[in-house]
Amino acid sequence: MSPLFLFVLLTAVLGLSPDWYPTPEVGTLEASNRWRKAFNQSLDLLSQLTIPEKVNITTGAGLGAGICVGNTGGVPRLGIKGLCLDNGPVGISQTSHVSVFPCGIAMGATFDRQLVHRRGSALGRESKLKGIDVHLGPVVGPLGRNAEGGRIWEGFTNDPYLAGKLAAESILGTQGENVMATIKHLVGNEQEHFRKLGEWQNFGFKDLKAPLSSNIDDKTLNEVYLWPFADAVKAGAAAVMCSYQLVNGTQACQNSALINGKLKSELGFQGFLMSDWLAQESGVSNALAGMDMAMPGNEINGKVYWGEELTRKVVNGTLPESRLDDMVLRILTAQIYVGIDDREPNFSYFTTNIFGNPMPLPVYNNSFVEQIVNYEIDTRDMFSSNVALEGAQAAVVLLQNDGILPLKNKKTVGVFGVGSQIGPKGAYCGKNMACSDGALIVGWGSGSAYPTDYESPFEALRRRANKENVHVTGTTESWNMSLAKVIAQKSDVNIVYVLATSGEADAVLDGNLGDRNNVSLWHNGDALINSVASNGKTVVIVTTVGPVDMEPWINHPNISAVILTGPAGDYGGKALADVIFGDINPSGKLPYTIAKNASDYIPLVKQVPSDGRPEANFEEGVFIDYKLFDRHNKTPRFEFGYGLSYSNFTFTDLDLTLDSISEHLPSPPKPVPVNKHSTNTSISDLYAPAGFPLVNGIVYPWLKNDSTTGFSNVSADGSSPPAVNSTYHFANGTGDISDASGGIGGNPALWKTVATLSHTTKNNGPFTGSVVSQLYVSFPDSGVDSPKVQLRGFDKSPVLQVGESQLTSYDLHWRDLAVWDVALQSWRVQRGQYNVYIGHSSRAFVLSHTFTL
Ligand SMILES: *[C@@H]1O[C@H](CO)[C@@H](O)[C@H](O)[C@H]1NC(C)=O
Ligand SMILES: *[C@@H]1O[C@H](CO)[C@@H](O)[C@H](O)[C@H]1NC(C)=O
Ligand SMILES: *[C@@H]1O[C@H](CO)[C@@H](O)[C@H](O)[C@H]1NC(C)=O
Ligand SMILES: *[C@@H]1O[C@H](CO)[C@@H](O)[C@H](O)[C@H]1NC(C)=O
Ligand SMILES: *[C@@H]1O[C@H](CO)[C@@H](O)[C@H](O)[C@H]1NC(C)=O
Ligand SMILES: *[C@@H]1O[C@H](CO)[C@@H](O)[C@H](O)[C@H]1NC(C)=O
Ligand SMILES: *[C@@H]1O[C@H](CO)[C@@H](O)[C@H](O)[C@H]1NC(C)=O
Ligand SMILES: *[C@@H]1O[C@H](CO)[C@@H](O)[C@H](O)[C@H]1NC(C)=O
Ligand SMILES: *[C@@H]1O[C@H](CO)[C@@H](O)[C@H](O)[C@H]1NC(C)=O
Ligand SMILES: *[C@@H]1O[C@H](CO)[C@@H](O)[C@H](O)[C@H]1NC(C)=O
Ligand SMILES: *[C@@H]1O[C@H](CO)[C@@H](O)[C@H](O)[C@H]1NC(C)=O
Ligand SMILES: *[C@@H]1O[C@H](CO)[C@@H](O)[C@H](O)[C@H]1NC(C)=O
Repeated sequence: MSPLFLFVLLTAVLGLSPDWYPTPEVGTLEASNRWRKAFNQSLDLLSQLTIPEKVNITTGAGLGAGICVGNTGGVPRLGIKGLCLDNGPVGISQTSHVSVFPCGIAMGATFDRQLVHRRGSALGRESKLKGIDVHLGPVVGPLGRNAEGGRIWEGFTNDPYLAGKLAAESILGTQGENVMATIKHLVGNEQEHFRKLGEWQNFGFKDLKAPLSSNIDDKTLNEVYLWPFADAVKAGAAAVMCSYQLVNGTQACQNSALINGKLKSELGFQGFLMSDWLAQESGVSNALAGMDMAMPGNEINGKVYWGEELTRKVVNGTLPESRLDDMVLRILTAQIYVGIDDREPNFSYFTTNIFGNPMPLPVYNNSFVEQIVNYEIDTRDMFSSNVALEGAQAAVVLLQNDGILPLKNKKTVGVFGVGSQIGPKGAYCGKNMACSDGALIVGWGSGSAYPTDYESPFEALRRRANKENVHVTGTTESWNMSLAKVIAQKSDVNIVYVLATSGEADAVLDGNLGDRNNVSLWHNGDALINSVASNGKTVVIVTTVGPVDMEPWINHPNISAVILTGPAGDYGGKALADVIFGDINPSGKLPYTIAKNASDYIPLVKQVPSDGRPEANFEEGVFIDYKLFDRHNKTPRFEFGYGLSYSNFTFTDLDLTLDSISEHLPSPPKPVPVNKHSTNTSISDLYAPAGFPLVNGIVYPWLKNDSTTGFSNVSADGSSPPAVNSTYHFANGTGDISDASGGIGGNPALWKTVATLSHTTKNNGPFTGSVVSQLYVSFPDSGVDSPKVQLRGFDKSPVLQVGESQLTSYDLHWRDLAVWDVALQSWRVQRGQYNVYIGHSSRAFVLSHTFTL
């Protein structure tokens, strides 16, 4: 039975994600001249390619068949090189001499477009120096629906508006340095539990029969989880990565409704969609559903779905060659558009030794001689170091301060907690940073990177304190409190560095299988804080991957200040010292809500149901994070957007200018079909050239034997191949083209500015500093169940001197006022009364305005 037939059958039987075929073709939408030029060049290249050459461009050579984590084949005959793909998103993973930037959730707290853009540039520059073509970041999925989700620190925030804007800047920055960016993971990859079948069976969940299905309704998908992907597509993202788990019962990487229908039709994505590593579950079904690149090319059991098999299926007419052409055009156009040159990787993902195998995994029959694989190019420079430092500083969120900070007139400081010092294994503590016994630099997993010169919070604080003749002493002992008590009693002020971490399900830390088991602090943090505080004035510094429970100590009368930061990379320790001593005025804002009760967070699915098929029903719909707290009138401990400063900033004089705002989108521009020319593939092209040094295990595009059954698309002599059979072997499915489509990022009218707002921002002192202002909108009460308020604008001011003011302005796009109308299958701007609020958090509004449409 062909996988395709099986797929169609399953769809019919189980009522999975609906069909949406065929894949919308690239190049049929309005695009810039620069993009058109790249597309024209790709069309020209395509017309010279044989089927195996096309397949080579789409298929990874296999995990370890090359020194990057992903390596595609190239077309040597035409000088088209294979691509090197490598992990982000916080830095170049698994290599040395790179910057470890503040992780996504730390950057989310900056609310700073320009800083995130520069971090994207720095990631691009460092990637290019290591010879990387495709950076696997930024992350907007997981979005952060679940506080305990293991990888939420890789993304910026669980607010879709903020996530989208920051992801777009990140992409523009990276691609501006001629490195392709990848927005990931499409979509619903909100937890590690059960993301992959084999992985979780190996963790002991023997009854598991299928990966988790994230069941997301249409409105929620559009308004929440897909929303930031639209910003990324609009920004020109070269690549999208589909996720491991199922969406509505169908594997994300072969979900035609999601990829063809949403990403490629509705959002008009013109780049290529790659699988997550080892997330491919079939061959033809993936291709037809819109997947364009198989990564790493083989599966864990060695199975190869594309490569030779893809060639065979195109040649015998199972997969239309037009789909293969579309895959190739998407990859080549993105590559030319971004400006990939002939750089070569000069480090190995698979070893940190200088010498290594160019085909690192032993399955490849190591007939290769070891060679230099790590040239240890130091990619760090002033530009990237400044970005890493400024990012870490701007990520610091001051949650509470009775005036103790910035520190002054203190003689002795006691420092406590595992988070204050580098752990016993060093700052680079092992593969994928899977450790938690020291200062938290980054979460663990493929999204981590290795620090080279890391200064711990303790060392940074001591270095800074020396300048003022302040004596700093401390301990990391967190269970036996006797030493901590002695130090605490003798110090003028005590600073406790606590942490909570999580990661990818490729490692288990303290029983946490990627996802966190709870939202409490690690290493006995609550007891340590209380014990220190009972001996005097205490500052608590929480470094965390996501929300943590602060209730066990937050009301302790001796806790004078509380600071929170995401894992902030190389300069996380220094940034905290800068804020503690007032060299930097904190300006970070919480990119998520901190609850009073752990039960206020949306729980993960951690149990396997009796049928072995776990499902996460996104029943709360669009109401996540602050929208959920607002809806249920729950008071959080600290709300989304909250964060204090050493100074007092005021917002005054709100001004609003409205255009006329239509209720519906105009009819989208019609796609313009493209004329593609395919070359003739002859039978001999289908086999490796005589004498080609084939290596066992590497994924090649050539056929291994000459069973020529049904080779309808090639001719024996290569002269006149029969026309491609474009009759799709399946029903058209729903395949409806939405009015929301029509341009890159969707209908161009979605992005039209329909309102501008401005206000005066003033620093009333007493400190120099920057402030984040936030704009929230409440939609009309017109039958559509919308959140009380939604973030629809934000601005990070430049540094303002005391007494200085500036004009802060915002653009609202048509899309920012729209709701997804399920019946219409498009966006709609409701008629009625809208309220706009300017404030310091999602609950602290100081200016407002009302308008009626
Ligand atoms: C998922 O299922 C929900 C509920 O049936 C439906 O509203 C939505 O359109 C589906 N989305 C996809 C991508 O299958
Ligand atoms: C791309 O090719 C088309 C068709 O040949 C041509 O009309 C168009 O001007 C070209 N665009 C650019 C930007 O080169
Ligand atoms: C496929 O890529 C590999 C690796 O770059 C190369 O050796 C091989 O010649 C390519 N095959 C074709 C058909 O171009
Ligand atoms: C590393 O790669 C970059 C980009 O290709 C190149 O400029 C540099 O010379 C390479 N270094 C080594 C030692 O190969
Ligand atoms: C390794 O490759 C050589 C040459 O292709 C072949 O003769 C040999 O059998 C292979 N060994 C293994 C273990 O696959
Ligand atoms: C706790 O540490 C102190 C010294 O720091 C030591 O004297 C005492 O025995 C320890 N207590 C326990 C229970 O280990
Ligand atoms: C929460 O998890 C951490 C890390 O595994 C552990 O140290 C702590 O004891 C747990 N707390 C609770 C309340 O279960
Ligand atoms: C606060 O600290 C002082 C020492 O400065 C101590 O005497 C007092 O008991 C502490 N308060 C509490 C509630 O622990
Ligand atoms: C900040 O300044 C304004 C205007 O002077 C004042 O109304 C407000 O109370 C101040 N806020 C704080 C937190 O000091
Ligand atoms: C095409 O090739 C595939 C894989 O070898 C095979 O399963 C399928 O039956 C063939 N289809 C036709 C129409 O020959
Ligand atoms: C195209 O494929 C369909 C379905 O397999 C088949 O019925 C039809 O005869 C084919 N047409 C050509 C021109 O080969
Ligand atoms: C699919 O849609 C096309 C274009 O609307 C139509 O010509 C064709 O008959 C449809 N095929 C099936 C199997 O419904």
